[in-house]
Amino acid sequence: MNGGKELAGQMMDALQPVLVSAAAEVAICPPFTLLQHLGELTEGSPVSLGAQNVYHQNSGAFTGEVSPPMLLEWGLKWCIVGHSERRSLCGETDDLVRQKVVALLQHGIQPILCVGEALEQREAGKHEDVVTRQLRHALTGLNADDQRLCVIAYEPIWAIGTGKTACPDQANKMHGLIRRELVELSSERIASEVRILYGGSVNATNAKDLLGQPEIDGALVGGASLKIHEFPGITAAAG
Ligand code: PGA
Repeated sequence: MNGGKELAGQMMDALQPVLVSAAAEVAICPPFTLLQHLGELTEGSPVSLGAQNVYHQNSGAFTGEVSPPMLLEWGLKWCIVGHSERRSLCGETDDLVRQKVVALLQHGIQPILCVGEALEQREAGKHEDVVTRQLRHALTGLNADDQRLCVIAYEPIWAIGTGKTACPDQANKMHGLIRRELVELSSERIASEVRILYGGSVNATNAKDLLGQPEIDGALVGGASLKIHEFPGITAAAG
């Protein structure tokens, strides 16, 4: 719930020179109210757009919600699901997150599924169990094509917006676990194709180290995506 039209314009201007040579795929998931404007600004550019949330029903008396067909009509390719803020502030459960994943896939929109543990859970040595549970709940039983379309974002809650980043090795280890879990849930082939992003205080300074880890395929960027001196730097660091 940040940013406005002015920032969107400035960010696209700052990104242009980087996009010319960037190998990384760049997607922006702004608040709903900025989608129209960013749609115009990104037309003809390689930047794709996504939403930060969705409801799992197609239509009906769900005042204030936005459905997968509505996202499709906007031409969106991605949608973030299960962000820790929605889990903790809006009471989203693993069940609801799964329903959203399924509803998006039915409409060909790629879910960016967020998983991650709280600090107490890591300190209690439960971080791997928490992430495995979230992952299994969302993806068990989906067919291989659907599983391949999902992007997983590992976001340790203690690293989101705090300036504390998981060290590259910590992040890489958890990504390795997620990848192995994907082999169990699907197959070696799908697990190798699914992109696993790291999120949590990624900035232009730490991006290269994080993205240089073998299991880290990209970044989900929060605070730094609002800074025109940071986000282009992360994009460049992504290759
Ligand atoms: P951050 O946020 O980059 O500011 O830590 C990440 C997120 O909210 O997904």
